Amino acid sequence: MDFEEKMTDLSDMLEKDYFELYPGRNDALKRLYNLMKRHHSSRSDALKSRDKSGSDWLYSPDTIGIMLYVDLFSNNLNKLIEHSGYFKELGITLIHLMPILRPRTGENDGGYAVQDYRSIDSRIGTMKDFKKMLEHYHANGIRICIDYVVNHTADDHDWAIKALSGDEKYQKYYFMFENDTIPKQFETSLHEVFPKVAPGNFTYLEDLGKWVMTTFYPFQWDLNFRNPDVFYEMVDNLLYLTDIGVDMIRLDAIPYIWKTMGTDCKNQPEVHLLLGLFRKIIEICAPQTTLLGEAIVEPDTIVKYFGKNERLECHSLYNASYMVEIWNSIATRDARHISWMKEYDIPATSIWINYARCHDDIGWGLDGERLRRMGFDPHAHKSFLIDFYLGSLEDSFSSGELYEFNPLTMDARNSGTLASLAGLEKAIKLSDDYLLELALKRIRLIHALFLFRKGIPMLYSGDEIGQLNNLSYLDDGHKKNDSRWLHRMAFDWEQVAGIHSMDSVHSKVFKSVKQLIETRRTYIGHAAILDENIVRQSNDQLFVIRQTTVENESILLIFNMSEDRQWLYTNELKRYGFGGVWREVIQGKTIDLDKKRIVLGPYEFFVTKL
Ligand code: GLC
Repeated sequence: MDFEEKMTDLSDMLEKDYFELYPGRNDALKRLYNLMKRHHSSRSDALKSRDKSGSDWLYSPDTIGIMLYVDLFSNNLNKLIEHSGYFKELGITLIHLMPILRPRTGENDGGYAVQDYRSIDSRIGTMKDFKKMLEHYHANGIRICIDYVVNHTADDHDWAIKALSGDEKYQKYYFMFENDTIPKQFETSLHEVFPKVAPGNFTYLEDLGKWVMTTFYPFQWDLNFRNPDVFYEMVDNLLYLTDIGVDMIRLDAIPYIWKTMGTDCKNQPEVHLLLGLFRKIIEICAPQTTLLGEAIVEPDTIVKYFGKNERLECHSLYNASYMVEIWNSIATRDARHISWMKEYDIPATSIWINYARCHDDIGWGLDGERLRRMGFDPHAHKSFLIDFYLGSLEDSFSSGELYEFNPLTMDARNSGTLASLAGLEKAIKLSDDYLLELALKRIRLIHALFLFRKGIPMLYSGDEIGQLNNLSYLDDGHKKNDSRWLHRMAFDWEQVAGIHSMDSVHSKVFKSVKQLIETRRTYIGHAAILDENIVRQSNDQLFVIRQTTVENESILLIFNMSEDRQWLYTNELKRYGFGGVWREVIQGKTIDLDKKRIVLGPYEFFVTKL
């Protein structure tokens, strides 16, 4: 379908949603339509031709992603071009470049405080460099994702500067108040995102004598989407980015983008209308671009950001609940909780991003009811996880740090790299070969847990070479209070230089991860996974998944979450209809499901095909 056909197809729905948010604003809608037309007519022929296959690329079973900070990985965009061979060798087809748009000067929350949505962070290059890099990666079959921070701008964004100078038009782009009466009313039902480093949700602007809403850091001013001008401007910026040819846009912190007094200003129904509008506008104007939503909230709430078939929202979402389940079962060696995860029906054009680590902390959002049913006290269990990944429990293999520790409630989240959290750092410090072997097995298992699930696997750069926690952030005044910098460090190219010849732990991790990706691409990858279910059986240390591919092949994934040998009694698989001889595609062995039991070694896993 071309632009006009799409417009006819979607405009009824678009108008319905638009007027729900902005009743009676025909003038604003007309302006929006003109904007969309303008963007479409200036869109390049090359992009229009990519648009023809729409977002199909996203669902290709070959799509495997990695996220990285350009400055930490390659210093700048030009040098990033030189590293495309690295990604090709690893089997990566999608790269998420962490915030690259020009951030505010000084502290900027890792780039999530944007000063200008249409310029590139000058530390890493220019817009021209970015376009060159994009072209290079596209020519190499690799797609590019960038961040679009929609909830807030930096306090030195042009709109904020105008607002500060007293321009009322721009003051209405934000939530500004003459005194603290309304902020105080808001605060009664709001939570704090950064209770330690940035308590409260409003900031007093001395020069102006007004209060502004700042859900995150005081220098991140919340945008007021109740104002149709803000929606218009943010669509304009969004389409500007899609017209450069970016393949995926990560919409940051989406649950927060609509505020209603008396609520916690999260996950409001209007957020879904806004996202539905963004989606329809993208489908009409730039169908090859897809939206990745960042909604790190409760499982039942996250899934709603896919929308429904009649009103689609994000194409993809982070599977944050699964990420937490992975770390929970690794600490407890208990696969019951992960095995009883809710399985959701999602629209056919939706896809999860499966991952274990990213640039943020791990927040322990486990389903309390399910924990209780398994005999855990949710509060005590959360404390256990926090201490376990801090490494303060005697039998913990982990090295990490607390993030946003609240001494009153003892609540916290955890920071750390995948390898350090999984035990590599401690094993190296203690020079203990046995612990080292276990840590390497654990790192491999964690990667397998997200690489083989249905969805798009997303690695966090540095984890594929087992990089360890880095404490140098403590020397930087802008970073020292934010322990997420523990796992945001320069990529260790020295390790990569010797990756093929050396026998270092980093080289072992790299080879191991690379082999898993290769397996995913060759054995699983050629046929998309259509269906996936968790198989319940009685061994609490095993996590078993059955998959069916579009070609109707059966795949059975069996993971041993513990360092002890485990048995799976095959009669428990019989009731699911599994029998016969299966082939384990990584180790190349056969698995006979007609024998009485299958044995798995420490942290061993099988990817088997009938
Ligand atoms: C998202 C980002 C996080 C940032 C926050 C505020 O959650 O992942 O790093 O601090 O948004 O923009």
